[in-house]
Amino acid sequence: MYRMISFLLSAAVMFSSTGCVGHAAALPEPQLKAPAATVPLQENPAESSAPDSAPEAEEPEEPYVRVIDPAKPMLALTFDDGPHETYTGQILDILEANHAVATFFEIGCNVAKYPAAVVREAELGCEIGSHSNVHKNLSKLKANALLEDLAAADAAFTAAGVPAPNLVRPPYGEVNKTVRTTTGRSLITWNIDTGDWRTKDAQKIISYVQGLENLNGAVVLMHSIYESSVQAAAALVPWLQEQGYQLVTVTELMAYYHGELPQPNTLYGYTYFCKSRTDTPLTLPVSPAEEEAVPEA
Ligand code: NI
Repeated sequence: MYRMISFLLSAAVMFSSTGCVGHAAALPEPQLKAPAATVPLQENPAESSAPDSAPEAEEPEEPYVRVIDPAKPMLALTFDDGPHETYTGQILDILEANHAVATFFEIGCNVAKYPAAVVREAELGCEIGSHSNVHKNLSKLKANALLEDLAAADAAFTAAGVPAPNLVRPPYGEVNKTVRTTTGRSLITWNIDTGDWRTKDAQKIISYVQGLENLNGAVVLMHSIYESSVQAAAALVPWLQEQGYQLVTVTELMAYYHGELPQPNTLYGYTYFCKSRTDTPLTLPVSPAEEEAVPEA
């Protein structure tokens, strides 16, 4: 919560007409900021009495507030099967460096092994969904076993310190009537499969995505357990932004692009995510976690 800062609320109000989702970088320490006017390095460096500049690491970061414009293109990157010991953190580094977010559909037993990963996902404004507890094909389970599996995954998320997810991505995208009607969750698949799980080849993943004509509104399937997927993400995140896409979470995409929130016992898959943009987007409020982080006046 250290990155949530006091200007968040006023910034949220300021941007509310276009829909503000505040995720801010660390608050700069004003006393560390050298007044620009006293550093005439360009004019006459020889006469400058300024000491060698302080190490780069001490420069305060510019505050950053993420704003979603519902009129502009957007898509949701999703990463399944983690958290991974190494690769989840590397993907989060890429997202953070580019002021982007994604949705992580995590496996309960992996969350139990690497709980800090989901905490960082939440801190960066990423969305966390459940990908079951041990990656069983949920459509082959009876209702009781299905609910037990999801409850075990929930326990791992809450033990890690994040809420039990409302979103579930069924392993293999396999859904039957029992899965659709008994979990009380929103079932989220995808409409773009990068094939990263099949090729495990960064260049093929990059070329495939860059060759697609229109990614507006897309929910893109990737995985956080392959080095090639991390390498692809490192290229694709900035490339997608250069193409004008806002990288948003699945719930943000549904609100801003489709004008609704994910409903329980409902499947959102290929057909849904191929639909065109709504004329009546929803604007999401600042999340309770972010509001909590705003210090009392
Ligand atoms: Ni999976």
